[in-house]
Amino acid sequence: MEDRCIHRAYPLSAGRREGDRVVCGYHGFTYDFDGCLVDVPSQENVPPGARVRTYPVHEQSPFVWMWLGDPGAAALRPPPRLPWYADGTGWRALPRCCASRRTTCCFTSTTSTSPMSS
Ligand code: FES
Repeated sequence: MEDRCIHRAYPLSAGRREGDRVVCGYHGFTYDFDGCLVDVPSQENVPPGARVRTYPVHEQSPFVWMWLGDPGAAALRPPPRLPWYADGTGWRALPRCCASRRTTCCFTSTTSTSPMSS
């Protein structure tokens, strides 16, 4: 889901989750799991068609892949297979660094050679 509220562009990641919904931390606009605006606290009606962009995702251990292109084309391009990250050859994901640095995952090797070079 795009990290930008349609109201005043507040980052939705600074809001909170309520079940499958995301509530903006600024004025409380609420979006359902597919980005549709479902509640505006100060209004009785929600503007029809109001939404934030969502992206297709694909879980393939140990990653969650996100498709940034045309959503309809996501099924045509499966993510690359990277079995050396999950096959116990010494490479492992460190989720702790992902959460603390808010970047892509970091990886370390417990072996002295890269599985890419073998
Ligand atoms: S900026 Fe999100 S509800 Fe106002």
